[in-house]
Amino acid sequence: MKVSVTTQKRDLLSIADVADLLPHLLDRAGAMRARRRSGDLGPTRPGRNAALIFEKPSTRTRTSFEVAMHDLGGHGIYLSPKELQLGRGETIADTARVLSRYVDVIVYRAFRSTDMAELARYATVPVINALDDREHPCQIVADLLTLKERWSGGFQGRTLVYIGDGNNVFNSLVQGAAIVGLNIVGAIPEAYRPPADLVESARRFAARSGSTVRFESDPKAAVRDADALYTDVWVSMGDEADQARRERDFQGYRIDEELLRLARSDAWVLHDLPAHRGLEITDGVMDGPRAAIWDQAENRLHAQKAILEALLPPRAGDPRPD
Ligand code: CP
Ligand code: NVA
Repeated sequence: MKVSVTTQKRDLLSIADVADLLPHLLDRAGAMRARRRSGDLGPTRPGRNAALIFEKPSTRTRTSFEVAMHDLGGHGIYLSPKELQLGRGETIADTARVLSRYVDVIVYRAFRSTDMAELARYATVPVINALDDREHPCQIVADLLTLKERWSGGFQGRTLVYIGDGNNVFNSLVQGAAIVGLNIVGAIPEAYRPPADLVESARRFAARSGSTVRFESDPKAAVRDADALYTDVWVSMGDEADQARRERDFQGYRIDEELLRLARSDAWVLHDLPAHRGLEITDGVMDGPRAAIWDQAENRLHAQKAILEALLPPRAGDPRPD
């Protein structure tokens, strides 16, 4: 697929922002993975710089974005708010205006989606959401890539069952699945389901792709026809004050060997990581033969490369992709 290039900057704040690009991102990330394994890093965006602002800890997202920028022929600059003037009260708007004069893209992990929107509003370069309290869109590109490479027949007719907290990861996953035509079931306690506007957005995408979005309260009933199971932590970064209540409320929502046995025998298990082993998922499942979790983590790198390449406009002299 040819990606159209405009002079208008394109942000990735929600997975819905790249609905039209998602099939291309999955194809391109898969191709980049194959190329990288044969030793070709694919430096298609040489000389570009990325500012990576992380308000919260990160192992995968930070490292994969830094390596992705290096592979593409550019450079990533990690910035923690403690070391930025942002931490001393400089506004997000002024930070966006200044960084846009130095770098070609800003990758931002924020506590608040309102701060994410503010940064994108004032930045004149693309802003990529590296997780906030509402969404985690880059994660979902890697997740869908992981499933796509396992299902040669595509997403149509397959069912993904997410078990646990209806959090930022689920909010992007439910929309991403609906965009590509993958049926999704959220086995999520009622009090933890996503905001209505996100569910409506997912249902609109599902209507177009011919897939379904459903919610269930009983994980055992939910997993019966599952082609894949997915879970995330019960206590996200920022939710720590609620830890005890959450751990009580999510009892019964653990992916363990017994629950996995109720799914199809060829069902894959995903987790975006970091995992709290023994809480939302057991060691036996994580380290077992149905876990696609480590490929999923690796795919963050290939997905970031495809995302960065798509959002960084090409320049004369850039090597042609493939
Ligand atoms: N899955 C994910 O985003 O992991 P990190 O918090 O380590 O970046
Ligand atoms: N829902 C988790 C995802 C971590 C990658 C969190 O926000 O902490």
